[in-house]
Amino acid sequence: MNYQLINLPFGASELEPVISAETIALHHGKHLATYVNNLNNLLPGSEFEELPLEEIVEKSSGGIFNNAGQILNHNLYFEQLQAPCDDNCPVGKLATAIDEQFGSFEVFKEKFTTAATTLFGSGWAWLASDADGNLHILQMPNADNPVTKGLKPLMTMDVWEHAYYVDYRNRRPDHIAAMWKILNWQEINRRYE
Ligand SMILES: [Fe+2]
Repeated sequence: MNYQLINLPFGASELEPVISAETIALHHGKHLATYVNNLNNLLPGSEFEELPLEEIVEKSSGGIFNNAGQILNHNLYFEQLQAPCDDNCPVGKLATAIDEQFGSFEVFKEKFTTAATTLFGSGWAWLASDADGNLHILQMPNADNPVTKGLKPLMTMDVWEHAYYVDYRNRRPDHIAAMWKILNWQEINRRYE
């Protein structure tokens, strides 16, 4: 299996001012591209060569896990983003589940924001669902993904510094606060349903 760098579902400057075209060029064109190249170099001859990406992440460790995890994480991240919208909020079955489980979208946002801002070092904040459709907010370090816990990844925020340092310097909370404007809840709900 030879992995390809995904095409972005938005134009490079379409997420501005939340995320600049410069950050997208580095994050997608350099960081993600490096993970893709690394995995394509590591897979040949390994037991994971013919497995789908999610299964590689579930079963591997070391360099293969780190690069496969970062590809899966970034694909999910970039594919859930769209042009900014001020009144952006969840839709469909997922909107109902968020209200039922957290009380309101505002409460959910607060809890998720705390998870994303307090995660120590590099990693990802996740919204994931279990087999019963219950929602979980997770803090996961480095390249980890909810599939390693048997959960389905729905929405994520990348808190590696490369995701925000060009635009926000050290102000991770400001970046997280702005991210809510560019989440594509149609896509996130599709993952849940
Ligand atoms: Fe990233």
